[in-house]
Amino acid sequence: MNQKTTIDIIEQQKWLGTAGNAIQPAILKAFEAGGETGNDIKNFLHGTWLGHPLHPAITDVPIGAWTTAAVLDGMELLGEEKYAPGADAAIAVGLVGAVGAAVTGLTDWTGTTRERRKLGLIHGLLNVGATALYATSFFLRRLEKSRGTAIGLSMLGYGVASASAYLGGHLVFGKQIGVDHTATAAVYPKDFVAVLAENKLAENTMQRVEAGEVAVLLARKNGEIFAIAHTCSHLGGPLSEGELLDDGSVRCPWHGSVFSLKDGSVIDGPATEPEPKFDVRVNNGQIEVKLQQTGSK
Ligand code: FES
Repeated sequence: MNQKTTIDIIEQQKWLGTAGNAIQPAILKAFEAGGETGNDIKNFLHGTWLGHPLHPAITDVPIGAWTTAAVLDGMELLGEEKYAPGADAAIAVGLVGAVGAAVTGLTDWTGTTRERRKLGLIHGLLNVGATALYATSFFLRRLEKSRGTAIGLSMLGYGVASASAYLGGHLVFGKQIGVDHTATAAVYPKDFVAVLAENKLAENTMQRVEAGEVAVLLARKNGEIFAIAHTCSHLGGPLSEGELLDDGSVRCPWHGSVFSLKDGSVIDGPATEPEPKFDVRVNNGQIEVKLQQTGSK
């Protein structure tokens, strides 16, 4: 398989863009219609409570269960019929896990754009196909008919799920979905560095400044000055172009993640990783910042 060409072909499909434009807002509207509860559910499914995307953790369930089923099916085909109930149970476990993976994946997909959204849509469609094959296989196994067909369908489902897993891996490692975009090779200042004259930061405003190699978001709210990393941890959005909210938080302009200015924590996803936070002081009329020594960056 020519991997680059396959990805390129998917990214060139206009119909995927059109479908994404229609489906994505509909899902976001459904969460919005649920009010605060809908927002809490959305944050839960993203994994903001976990500090890590929930979707990749849940995908281990169907992948592991269906791999187990493939091995046990193989043993059965070699004449070891005692493994058949184990294979059937593994397929059932995988089907339950597939539902969780689909719901969390669909939620993460609402926080993607352009090529990532197209690849994510194909990833999801392949998963639906694999799940349908496994569900049909499970149904045939329960009927205790057409055992050979049932095993064939689950093997086919395994192939489709593997192709989908490849795309999922590309979304993470190639398109950087689900990784912390504030984790950079740039050196965060461990000692105070001057970044802006204090009188240049007006009340209720925020701006981007440079602290050595890293971009920092400065904000002044209720007379207090705050500093967190300027790059959104979700997909790298510029936080200074977002919205400074009344409760002392900032909303990213790209997909709406909300971060506390006080400690950089995630208030609303799709982001799951907190923003690095900086200590702030005013020295000789200059705002100075240094990385707060709580994280690993
Ligand atoms: S880049 Fe997606 S929410 Fe900031």
